[in-house]
Amino acid sequence: MKGYFGQFGGQFVPELLIPPLVELEEAMAHFLPREDFQAELEDLLNNFAGRVTPLTYCPAISEQLGLRLFLKREDLLHTGAHKVNNTLGQGLLAKKMGKKNLIAETGAGQHGVATAAAAARLGMKAKVFMGSIDVERQSANVERMSMLGTEVVPVEDGTQTLKDAINETLRYWIAHQADTHYCFGTAAGPHPFPELVAHFQSVISREARAQMLESQGALPDYVVACVGGGSNAIGMFRNFVDDRDVKIIGVEAAGTGEPGCYNSAPINLGRPGVLHGQISMLLQDEAGQVLPSHSISAGLDYPGVGPEHSHLHSIGRVRYDMATDDEALQACQLLSRAEGIIPALESSHALSWVVKNAAEIKGATVLLCLSGRGDKDMDIIRGAMDERRERNKQ
Ligand SMILES: Cc1ncc(COP(=O)(O)O)c(C=O)c1O
Repeated sequence: MKGYFGQFGGQFVPELLIPPLVELEEAMAHFLPREDFQAELEDLLNNFAGRVTPLTYCPAISEQLGLRLFLKREDLLHTGAHKVNNTLGQGLLAKKMGKKNLIAETGAGQHGVATAAAAARLGMKAKVFMGSIDVERQSANVERMSMLGTEVVPVEDGTQTLKDAINETLRYWIAHQADTHYCFGTAAGPHPFPELVAHFQSVISREARAQMLESQGALPDYVVACVGGGSNAIGMFRNFVDDRDVKIIGVEAAGTGEPGCYNSAPINLGRPGVLHGQISMLLQDEAGQVLPSHSISAGLDYPGVGPEHSHLHSIGRVRYDMATDDEALQACQLLSRAEGIIPALESSHALSWVVKNAAEIKGATVLLCLSGRGDKDMDIIRGAMDERRERNKQ
């Protein structure tokens, strides 16, 4: 069915949001296949954002773990994460549609900064909604958005994180749809956003697959990515899904990992439900109320997940595991010290899966999506390390 991945997806929105979603779907059908659109986007991706991103072999960790680890370096992109692949794509599409303004939600601030940069580059105005807890824990990114000329609107509702920022952005879009495009930041939300975002992010696996074949003469045994809403992961998975010998792993955030504590792992610990215009795996209580999520990484702190991931899980094509806050911190430290690369805490969740499962996958070639760099997380990492030192003293 249109807009569905198996039983997941759809368009569960108020009637007032149907016209802009239909307009967007029509614009996708019109512009995305056009060669001039593709050439313009490729120019932006290569000469503004810094594609093609390298494939980096990690000699020290590979030796330590007894496997071969390659990183797809989305952390090297302009603005520091994979998010810019999507914002340049959607920004360009919106401009072709005659829209003057971009609005966006953001959690870690990476999508907000990427939207702000795309808007500035494309001569558009941007407004970014951000939960007030995230405004505090990702303050460096708030400053970057302001510097780029974007207005940041703190959202005080609910858990004051990504879920509430999305609610507020959808509300604003209803009233401003004539001249405004909602630049959705992850491969979730009502149809056609999951397809649109996956389309723009699949450049990650298109490049990585070709790079593996060219440099190694073979595909990897494992492809691994962290899963928040699911955009870097679906971008990394898309071009490997048909390669049946490639095992694909998505890593959700288990939060503190203590039983009964909040987490951000809807595929592992949730069940199907409706949030933000889609049916997908969702953290919810017995009555169907959405549960608050928790992760040390703001970008994974979301109770839902994109519908394509729920589908890939349900058909058994992708294995979804979890990593705790502590495991992610340790992986972050490992990559920094062993390889000279400070990863985002989001991407560190994916790396921690490789560390934890090294014995099981001994000798394997592993391709990991390094979705972003860790500069934005330095305060959180310092705070967590101090806390751990205090705990060990007691
Ligand atoms: C570096 C990084 N990785 C991963 C994510 C998670 O988002 P997604 O699951 O859409 O890739 C974020 C979100 O902000 C991010 O900043």
